Order: sequence, then structure tokens, then C-alpha cells
Amino acid sequence: MRMDDLFLEKVLKRGRSLISDFAILVKLTGVYESINEAVLNAASRLKDDLEFFLGEEGEITVKLAEEAFFIEDFRVKASVADIDNFSFLSKNLSERGIGAVTFRAPLQTDDLVFLAYAIKGGSEAAEIQSALESRLTKAITVGGPVEALKESALDTKDVRLLARRAYVKAVTSYQAAVQSLKAGKRPDLKRAKRAVQGLVDAIFKDEPYTLGLTAARNPKLYVFQHPVHVAMLSAALGKRLALNRYHLSLLGMAALFHDVGKVVLPLSILQKEGELSPLEQELLRMHPLEGLKQVLKSRGLNTLAVLTMFVALEHHRAMDGSGYPPFRGNDRPVLFSRIVQIADDFDSMVSGLVQQRKAQPVAEALKLMHSRAGTVYDEVLLRAFMDVFKS
Ligand SMILES: [Fe+2]
Ligand SMILES: [Fe+2]
Repeated sequence: MRMDDLFLEKVLKRGRSLISDFAILVKLTGVYESINEAVLNAASRLKDDLEFFLGEEGEITVKLAEEAFFIEDFRVKASVADIDNFSFLSKNLSERGIGAVTFRAPLQTDDLVFLAYAIKGGSEAAEIQSALESRLTKAITVGGPVEALKESALDTKDVRLLARRAYVKAVTSYQAAVQSLKAGKRPDLKRAKRAVQGLVDAIFKDEPYTLGLTAARNPKLYVFQHPVHVAMLSAALGKRLALNRYHLSLLGMAALFHDVGKVVLPLSILQKEGELSPLEQELLRMHPLEGLKQVLKSRGLNTLAVLTMFVALEHHRAMDGSGYPPFRGNDRPVLFSRIVQIADDFDSMVSGLVQQRKAQPVAEALKLMHSRAGTVYDEVLLRAFMDVFKS
């Protein structure tokens, strides 16, 4: 993880309580004229919050710009429970012309209490600063108004961090589900569902970046990364069909489990370098039917389970009736299966890590798929899929 990410993690975790505890301390100094236990407790809570960011040394700056709080450059958003505290502190700081407060380790509770009384007492930023200097403390610096911070840029950072998190969570939760199935246990699907919802959200907010994550290919992890890539690509295609978020999450989950039938296959087949033997091929071609069985075994018959069964069974069937497993009649695979089939073949081609075939460039893969429009792939869906790579 990058340093920025680590800091943002901290802001997401403790930023709100830092702003709230700061507000509460200032509020209490307005209630109690002299220092008492309540004030000291509030100050030590704020000290804890600050030390969470500071560690042994270091400094952080809390900024107020256009009524929004930032820790360094990261926006701290209030929840319903903190709105009153946030607006109280924002009002008090801006009335004193304070735009930034820098805190440095080591902090003393006394200094925090002093700062709070000065703010509540109505001193201006410059007065507070010189009073702090006369206390000979370097732990706190108070500054005037800061220029408005570009929030959009910060939001982009947040969205991208959340996209990366959802991606990792999807890979690990699929891995955990596979382990449960191998052990004959029911997989816990809640984590996977939340991860897929996170990915769908990220696709709506920053699709190019999110889909860019599918370039991650780790030979050892690829059996778990591939289903996640297929889920993301399927959702991006589904988005172009105007499916709503609920349906996109269902589609993403069904796509995530499209190859679940492979849990019964040994890794020696799944990660084999070079051509599979005829017997190995035959075993591999059983994974759609095996997938249907796995889903049937592990879940109740809800909508998601039924859709996942269809996708598991049909994702290697072609529009012209070729592919496997063979089926009678003229039934076309269902919509979700036709979507996943496209996403699956695409990811297999561009990764090249499935059976260690050569990776194809995106343009080549799309060209090859285009030549099979109508015979292997649903023409309309394939056109929508091509659209994903135009932007
Ligand atoms: Fe498959
Ligand atoms: Fe696949």
C-alpha cells in the first residue's frame, strides 16, 4: 500500500472522532469556567485521537476550508451523529479566523485545554498563536484561513482506494469460499457480496481506473483473480445494458462463481503449463455441470443461486449450439450466461495465464471475438462489450 493510502486509512478510521472530540473540548470550556474532570477527560480523548496520527513524532494539520474539515489533504466527512459537533467547531474556528491548527508530538493535555479556552474565549488566530508561543510550547500552531482545497481531487483518491480495497476483498473472499467448498462447508457469501457491491460502485464512479485493476495477474493467484476480473467485466457490460445496481450485483456474484465447478479439479490441471492431456481436458470440461452441483449443494434456491447455476452451467456454451456441455433443443443460454461468456473468454485471452497460453493484446482479443459475433457470442452484447474499451 502507498503511504497516502495508509494515511487515508487512518483518516477514515479516526478522523471523525478527532474533529468531534476537538469540538466537545471547546464546547465544555464554554460550559465550565475552570478546568475540571470533564474538561480534562475531553482533552485526553482528543490527545488519544491526535496521537493515533502522530505516533512518537510527527505533526498533522487540521484544516477548515469552506466549512469542510480536512486532516492534511483528506476530507473528513461528518456522519449524522457528528453533524452538530462538526458545525459547532466550524463556526467557532471561523469566527476566530482560524483555518488551520497544527499539532506536534509530544502533546500535553494542558496545551489542548489552553487552546480550547482560548478559542472559546473569543481570541483571534494571531492572539492565540502568540499566547501559545509565550507558553513556550511548540506542540500547537494556529494559522489563519486556508485556501479552499480541491475536493474533487481528494474524492478521486477515495474512490480509487475503495476500488482497490473491494478488488482485494473480492479475491480473498472468493478464495475463502473455495476453501470452504473444498472442506465441504457452506461458503460465507456476505463478504463476497459486499466486495462485489464495492466493485459495482467503483465501476460507476471511476470505470477506467477500476477496470484497470484487472491487469493484475499473479500466476499463483490467478485462479482467484480471474473470477473477480470476469465479475468486473461482466458488470461493466451490464452497466451498458442499463441494468440497475441490484441486478449488476447479482450479475457480479454469478460471474464471480462461474468457474466454481473447478474446485473439484486439482491445481496440477488448473495451473498446468502447456497442453492438457485428453483425459485432463475431459475433466476440465466437466466444470460447468460440477459448478451447478456445487451451487445446489451450498445454497438455498434463491434468485442469486438460480442465476449462478445458469451461469456456471452455460458459460462455455456458444450461440450456435457448440461449446460444452452439449445441450438439446434450440435454447439459448440465459442473458447472464451470455454476458459472462464474453467477459470470461476476454479475460482468458488477454491474461494468457489460463493454461499458460500466450497473452493477447486487448485489440487482438476483441478482433478475434468480433469474428465470432453471432456464432459464438451474442452479437448485441458483444457490441456493448466493445464499447467498454472505447472510452
Ligand atoms: Fe469456465
Ligand atoms: Fe473462466
